[in-house]
Amino acid sequence: MFDKRTIFPLILIVLGTLTLFGQNVTNLFRLYQETLITIVGLFVSIITILILIYKKYKNKMYIFFKNFEIKNNIIKLNVNDSNTCLFSILKLEVKVQDQKNPVYVMKNFHNLLTSIEKNLDSTTKAYIITSLYPVKGTYLVVCTNSEPNGSSEIDEKRHIDTVYRLKVILESIEPDIRLNPISSSKYNVLLSPNVPAALVSPFLTATGIRPPFTRAFEVSGGDIELGRTIDNQTVGISLNDVERHILIVGSTGSGKTNTAAVIAEGAKEKGIKVLILDWHGEYTKLIQGAKVYSKEGLPRIDPLGSNKIEETVELLGDALDLTEPQRFLAYVVLQRLVAMRQFDLTSFLTVLKEIDDDSYWIRDVKYALMRKLIFTLVGDGQKLFSREDSVNAYNVVERLFDSNDDLVVIDLSVIDSDVLKRLYAMFLLLYISQYLKKNPNSYRILVVLDEAQNYFINKNDIIIDRIIREWRKFGLFLCLVTQSPSSISEEVLKNANTKIIHTIKSNIDKKIIMDSTALDKDLADYLDKLDVGECICTCPSKKAQILIKIKKKSEF
Ligand SMILES: Nc1ncnc2c1ncn2[C@@H]1O[C@H](COP(=O)(O)OP(=O)(O)O)[C@@H](O)[C@H]1O
Ligand SMILES: [Mg+2]
Repeated sequence: MFDKRTIFPLILIVLGTLTLFGQNVTNLFRLYQETLITIVGLFVSIITILILIYKKYKNKMYIFFKNFEIKNNIIKLNVNDSNTCLFSILKLEVKVQDQKNPVYVMKNFHNLLTSIEKNLDSTTKAYIITSLYPVKGTYLVVCTNSEPNGSSEIDEKRHIDTVYRLKVILESIEPDIRLNPISSSKYNVLLSPNVPAALVSPFLTATGIRPPFTRAFEVSGGDIELGRTIDNQTVGISLNDVERHILIVGSTGSGKTNTAAVIAEGAKEKGIKVLILDWHGEYTKLIQGAKVYSKEGLPRIDPLGSNKIEETVELLGDALDLTEPQRFLAYVVLQRLVAMRQFDLTSFLTVLKEIDDDSYWIRDVKYALMRKLIFTLVGDGQKLFSREDSVNAYNVVERLFDSNDDLVVIDLSVIDSDVLKRLYAMFLLLYISQYLKKNPNSYRILVVLDEAQNYFINKNDIIIDRIIREWRKFGLFLCLVTQSPSSISEEVLKNANTKIIHTIKSNIDKKIIMDSTALDKDLADYLDKLDVGECICTCPSKKAQILIKIKKKSEF
């Protein structure tokens, strides 16, 4: 109950009191001595009580700064004759909904500190302290230095303005935060050196909180710089990560296309040829110096230019969603067209006519196939798919990449029909894969497939699945970009070893990503709270999943 410091004075009190009333206990004292003893006793008791009170209230009575006055809740400290310093202390109350999630708290805190920093001028300093004893809480201390030879009234007004502005700005930027002035009686306590208050800004070193993404491991700049970690280390991925295929996911507007552009440019600088299949025509704005094929300039594709006709059939099957009988019939038709070395409406119809349709089902299959293939032979399709002066599996790389063009953008947005876009892009991909199989490692090529969900009908796509499973060894790597991981195949989720995950709002998509990446629990909670451009990156070269703010590419 009593500690060492109070027991001694207590004994003194007891002794004093006993002495005071001790006449009845002992006959040693005479009357004239009694008055003296009473006075001594009283004196000892009063002194002891004063010592106790002093000890109890010592901290509160401690005045650290001698030269100060408190006015209007502002503490004015005279550092020397020409220099004064004005302090205000505001109590900082945070209502974070999810207090248990350290990442969320960290992020709020980080935003707060950045906002404070941005809103201070050169004469003002601010810091945050946390005190547990004797007054509990976290406080923002704002301190303004007086202008040399400035009048104290103007200084005071400037200080109040600064504090008020900070309060308004912070409360509107961070609605969970309240900043309330505290009464000046607490100032001495908080500014006393005896108060065990921790300076918590800069927070990363002072609070001791290590968020999951800054766990003690080296984040290397890597071969391709992507951006920065939250504690401002430069971070990137290695070429090996690119060669293990990349999947970039995130809701619309989360920053995927920007990230893919950063990677594409980085890969190019490291000597990989990059082909971007640009579904919406966004990359031309983001990447400078790329070779862009658009409008009339889109290279024509020879639909019979494959070195393996079965793979063309697979492609048509995937892109046009053909049934098994339709695939079979497509195979027969294609073989005949190859033999005729012709691909146009007339030859196609001639070949179809030659096929016996004595049973109902064959007739159904025939007409369904015709309906699905016909628009590759007329209108826009006719311009894109033709044998003359066209790209095939033997010339595709030389045709797309001149010796100086290492980064090529195919602007698919100029093609109106989604089916044609898909078909066109898939033919390029197929021919590149066939080229590289014939000439293994003649080139290393990264193909960026934006809006990749558009290439997956029925959730599987034989060509893409095969490339992602087997084509690394031939030098073909994929970067698939999608807002809808639930629409793409499991092969892709499994085999894209480098995953860059931007914010995801949909619960289904979130679950798929969590399952396929074994996402750290703390980070998973954070998935729907990431800002634009922030992502969680998991790749073979990193020991842990990390949070990265991707650098923003400027549009030009
Ligand atoms: N790392 C980033 N930092 C800041 N802003 C970004 C970043 N990435 C993208 N943005 C901005 O966000 C918007 C959407 O980006 P975008 O890459 O097109 O997203 P998505 O492809 O996911 O729809 C664009 O206006 C872009 O300028
Ligand atoms: Mg996009």
